[in-house]
Amino acid sequence: MSLAYDIDTVADAAPNDLEAFWMGFTANRAFKRRPRMVSRAKDMHYYTPEGRAILDGSAGLWCSNAGHNRDPIVAAIQKQAAEMDFAPTFQFGHPLAFRAASRIAELAPGDLDHVFFCNSGSEAGDTALKIALAFHAVTGKGTRTRLIGRERGYHGVGFGGITVGGISPNRRFFGSLLAGADHLPHTYDREKQAFSKGEPEWGAERAEALEGIVALHDAQTIAAVIVEPMAGSTGGLPAPKGYLKRLREICDKYGILLIFDEVITGFGRLGFPFAAERYGVVPDMITFAKGVTSGAVPMGGVIVRKHIYDTFMNGPDHVIELFHGYTYSGHPLACAASIATLDLYRDEGLFERARALEPTFADAVMTLKGKPGILDIRTVGLVAAFDMASKPEGIGKRAYEAMESAFHDQGLMFRVTGDTIAVSPPLIISESQVGELVEKVGKTIDAVM
Ligand SMILES: Cc1ncc(COP(=O)(O)O)c(C=O)c1O
Repeated sequence: MSLAYDIDTVADAAPNDLEAFWMGFTANRAFKRRPRMVSRAKDMHYYTPEGRAILDGSAGLWCSNAGHNRDPIVAAIQKQAAEMDFAPTFQFGHPLAFRAASRIAELAPGDLDHVFFCNSGSEAGDTALKIALAFHAVTGKGTRTRLIGRERGYHGVGFGGITVGGISPNRRFFGSLLAGADHLPHTYDREKQAFSKGEPEWGAERAEALEGIVALHDAQTIAAVIVEPMAGSTGGLPAPKGYLKRLREICDKYGILLIFDEVITGFGRLGFPFAAERYGVVPDMITFAKGVTSGAVPMGGVIVRKHIYDTFMNGPDHVIELFHGYTYSGHPLACAASIATLDLYRDEGLFERARALEPTFADAVMTLKGKPGILDIRTVGLVAAFDMASKPEGIGKRAYEAMESAFHDQGLMFRVTGDTIAVSPPLIISESQVGELVEKVGKTIDAVM
């Protein structure tokens, strides 16, 4: 067995020949041949085991919105680990879980007042779908079992999430999924939307497809519609102007619950605590994860409107109202991290900062328009996506090369999907770092065209 790294010199960052770890959503063989390894992080940067700085152009995996290893978050986690490592939140409780829930609910619009905790965006998606089904069952509308997602949507990797998700490779090996689901069309049309800054003018009409789905299946069979306010994983598709409002209207007309998956768009990515506020639309549930702890400890959850929660608070009061939950729901370390993160967002005004920076960021990324092989650039909040022409070898090859080149040659981390480069830096990024980020993306594109 050949050792790719010397254990002693890289402080266990790469402890062996890398074979034991089957990495998710990764081209394992290519990665292990030429690893993109990081072992330390601070603020806007990762550092390789050799000490090379890598500008974080993706907030880790869209999660480190406050930047990395922020002192107050680190201190809160350390303090909590020393105080109480774990406590159940089934039939027992601990104060931090209640405090974290209140803080999160305070940030949500309207009467989104109650928080159900889990540990990831995938669990949040499945939890929201289960709450929707249970809500209809409890209110005597047990025929409402259909779940409606959207083409190109991503709601994690649970069976519920991939059922309503619309990214084909995430679904195709996994059988028939949940019965009865259907999908709205996605909202992207390059001819009508290319190089839009912010919400595209065209596309609200795509919401009308929900009327067709209702006509086909009958409203009485439909439990919920779930969409991302900005479809992230598929390559950054902002909601067209008016689209989400129209979905809300149609859901209201037919008694269908509307769920926003804000796992990416929550906690400042679009310049607001939740994108729901940016769009002036109150969904029935919001799923969140990632930015709630700035990625420091896994945490996810679902925020539900008062009327949904109240519906369950019925029957004898010693009886469990919802048979659902995770051992680590409201984990003390996650709650401590979350409260410290929300304090930091507030104290540093990071959501407002993202909003203020959006025009500068958008102008900067659009300077790459006109580069050979760039088919579209989209941007909203602190998100940008660059569609590159595919190589003759097939979709994804150019983007893979771009990811390698960015990391090894430019000192930059970003996400790729298909042949799209997606950029979503921590909200603490400075204006000069925006310039640096765009310059590095530009050089990377030049290198792989
Ligand atoms: C919109 C959305 N929902 C759900 C998820 C799944 O989150 P997790 O990977 O934490 O399960 C993601 C992850 O990127 C996401 O972007």
